[in-house]
Amino acid sequence: MPDELVELTCRAAEALRGAFPDWTAPVAVLQTGTGFTAEGLLDEELGRLPYSALPGMPGGAPSPAGHRLEAMLGVSEGSQVLVLEGRRHLYEGYGPHPCVLPLCAAIGAGVSRVFLTSAVGGVREDWQPGTLVVLTDHINCLGTSPLIGNPGLGPSPFPEMQTTYSQELNAGFINAAAEVGLIPRLGVYQANVGPQFETPAEVEIAQRNGADVLGMSVVLEAIAARAMGAQVAALALITNKAAGYMVRPPSHEDVLEAGRFCSRAIMRALRVYLRSLSCDGIRPCPKADAQGPSAATSSATTTRPRGAAIRLASATSDVPCRNKERPR
Ligand code: HPA
Repeated sequence: MPDELVELTCRAAEALRGAFPDWTAPVAVLQTGTGFTAEGLLDEELGRLPYSALPGMPGGAPSPAGHRLEAMLGVSEGSQVLVLEGRRHLYEGYGPHPCVLPLCAAIGAGVSRVFLTSAVGGVREDWQPGTLVVLTDHINCLGTSPLIGNPGLGPSPFPEMQTTYSQELNAGFINAAAEVGLIPRLGVYQANVGPQFETPAEVEIAQRNGADVLGMSVVLEAIAARAMGAQVAALALITNKAAGYMVRPPSHEDVLEAGRFCSRAIMRALRVYLRSLSCDGIRPCPKADAQGPSAATSSATTTRPRGAAIRLASATSDVPCRNKERPR
């Protein structure tokens, strides 16, 4: 059990790369949350793979409507981008590993920048539905972690989480958002297991905890991605005010509707940011990228000692990059 996630990650990374013959070096991976689509981000689609084709992913239907559970490789402004459409949630009952495995596979395949989108409930009285919040921190109230059992995803069994959300990605995204007329807030996300929405008392506790928004995902993915050395940004859309703030209680339909309505503007901002990334030469060099999946592959078979970290070519700080050192 302890080594299961790392072995699955290596095999899933191999399956992901193998499914896309045109794969070169995606500049980023975007994982979409409830109600979100990547519409407006890509100029071209190069292929799709259902998550269920990745070793270790459960095949059942997604419990929240609006989650496709597919990986899609595409091109945005001349750069490859991997889109993970939808996610498994802890409340589906499969445990934490299927929640993080598609993202771990993407990072294992060499993608080192992660953008997570998610629908959230707003805890602050003055933050209305439709407000975009760039996360600066999180509070994990899920009662679990993908790192339980020391799965060896990264070099340390006790990865630091002070830098979970990348200031560099956050600043880059916020600048790009301004270019398309979006002014996000900065905030702290509290993850509750769900699938029920919070009670008013739980919302009050979240407020006292210092949370600005509430959701049922993001945190497991961010923990796993940081443990693997990737840079993470999370973009949370307030789809409803949390319980106790409105006469009408929050509903899943509100969440889907707000996601559909605002997703395109967020994708436009992301597109501007990814364009700037592909212009500044911070992409992994082809050689480093070529080492990524084969390193993952070989460690999946014989060479990785039990409990050792996967070495990710483009997700570790010692990767040669084309023009300058990989940003931290
Ligand atoms: N609570 C938790 N998760 C959510 C909410 C909420 O109010 N809205 C969207 N996701």
